[in-house]
Order: sequence, then C-alpha cells, then structure tokens
Amino acid sequence: MKRKNKESPFTSEEKSLIKEAIRAKKKAYAPYSKYWVGSALMDDRGKVFTGCNVENASYPAGLCAERTAIVKMVSEGGKRIRKIVVAASSQVPVFPCGMCLQVIQEFGSDCEVIAVNKKGDQIQKITMSSLFPFAFDPEKLKG
Ligand code: THU
Repeated sequence: MKRKNKESPFTSEEKSLIKEAIRAKKKAYAPYSKYWVGSALMDDRGKVFTGCNVENASYPAGLCAERTAIVKMVSEGGKRIRKIVVAASSQVPVFPCGMCLQVIQEFGSDCEVIAVNKKGDQIQKITMSSLFPFAFDPEKLKG
C-alpha cells in the first residue's frame, strides 16, 4: 500500500535550526547528570547561535544549553530571539526549565519554542506566551 507523504508542520528554517540544536548537543559537557542538551536560536537579524549545557563540579554553577545560546547572542549584538530549539537526550521532548524561561522572556517574549527528543522523531512547538503566560518581565518593574 502506498503511504501518503505527511506534510511537515515545520518550515525549512525551523528544520535547519532543529539540526543545529541536535549538532550542538554533541558538545554538551554533562559528566554529572549525563543529560546532554543542545540549543539553537535565531535572532531578529536571522543570525543563528548555538549552545550546550555546561556543568560544573560545583553543581549550581552549571549552565543550561538555552542560556548558553542566549548569552552568545546578546554578547554578539543580538537583541531579540525569534525561535529557540531545545534538543534533549531524553525519550521525550523537554521544554526549557524555569530559569531559562525567565531569560528567554527577557529577550524573546513573543518567540516560538521548539522541543525535540533524543531520536529526533518527536518535535513539539509552542509560543512563549502560552508556555509562560504570567511571566515576570521588565514592564512589571515600572510599578
Ligand atoms: N538542562 C538544559 O540544558 N536545558 C533544559 O531545558 C533542561 C536541563 C540541563 C541542565 C543540566 O546540565 C542537565 O540538563 C540536567 O538537568
């Protein structure tokens, strides 16, 4: 029986960002958790930045993949995140942790977040506003 070609819900730009995140995961330094994560983001200029988790013997000093990519973007002049991908080493896709959500909120409150599992056969996409609807953001500081 002929199988119908299912149309992908992801754009070619998103597919290549997903590939970059999976590639970045190979650089992860995670000897403690053995949970390897890669991230890739596209900024408002269309520039791509990647990151991986970087753990430390002093556990709280470790950094998540998403924040590694964001810090690279900001330090290279990027202002806003358009899309960010998280590629994890688990069977299921995972969305950013609370601390990363807060940092994504600062630079990409209106961005899209894509999560991909280890095999790359489960991919989920959600808007930042639905993922973090009651976020604390710079506006709130205005009193
Ligand atoms: N981690 C990430 O890098 N991103 C996530 O979205 C979830 C967790 C890292 C932090 C730590 O190095 C390891 O995964 C286990 O929590």
